[in-house]
Amino acid sequence: MPLVIDLLSAALGVEARGLDLRQPPDADTARALVAAFEQNSVLCIREQRLSPAQLLTVAKLFGTPKAQVNKHQQLPDAPEVAILSSESRVSDGRETRLVQGTTWHTDHSFTVRPPKATLLYAVRLPESGGDTSFCNMRAAYAALPTSTRERIGGLNAVHSYESSRSPRKMMRRTTAEEAQSPDVTHPLVRFHEPTASNALYLSTTRLERIVELERTASDALLDELMVHVDQEQFVYHHAWQAGDVVIWDNRCLMHHANADFSLDQPRLMHRVLIEGEAPLPGRH
Ligand code: OGA
Ligand code: MN
Repeated sequence: MPLVIDLLSAALGVEARGLDLRQPPDADTARALVAAFEQNSVLCIREQRLSPAQLLTVAKLFGTPKAQVNKHQQLPDAPEVAILSSESRVSDGRETRLVQGTTWHTDHSFTVRPPKATLLYAVRLPESGGDTSFCNMRAAYAALPTSTRERIGGLNAVHSYESSRSPRKMMRRTTAEEAQSPDVTHPLVRFHEPTASNALYLSTTRLERIVELERTASDALLDELMVHVDQEQFVYHHAWQAGDVVIWDNRCLMHHANADFSLDQPRLMHRVLIEGEAPLPGRH
């Protein structure tokens, strides 16, 4: 079967069919997959049956897999592959189940070099629900009024592990944990090299404040931008099929999980993060 690549939505994303990635793809196919990812921000490769080690081989087509940080369980034979399961519990004394990442975010923006991309491989899915939503932050930037683009051009934002603006209430972290992830500063508008375009770089639970603005003005701007990006014209909702490998571009997208499935229905994903660079400031 030849490789077929089709659009997933008007907002972003493509799907590839006709591949069995248990065998490494030839150089032309590998280049086509990387280009599809870079140009469309989300690449879904359908109908795969991959062991964790094979998933890692696929991930390496797109860059260097990152060692996984705590939180997620690790697989012994492939330590860069994490388990993302609806069966996980937060140990807050009540053994609450949780679906992680339900607000708009980009992965690990609280780090100096956030992962370029994230891969999720759908192992088990609930009967319905559990889509992942993606927001095109290049399109959202391009749709801003010129006056806003000029106003935000050179601004920088502080990202915290847990922003004081975050709507969720987390368990208190230990001083040692806090020391491990000091606040970082990233440009508010970042340059996306593969498409030579600018993207807004926002994340709900991490964005603390704009460096150059007073608190009130900073909060008002961040709220304004969050409202602007959250429009259906920028958004694609991925309805998972078992065997989907989805790779998304953290440099120019936000995404969120949807906690709209019953938690007695397991949802199990294997996840790999791809190493990234410090965000480049936007070009104006
Ligand atoms: C993630 C994430 C969304 C989902 O893995 O980083 O946000 O739908 N996942 O599981
Ligand atoms: Mn995420």
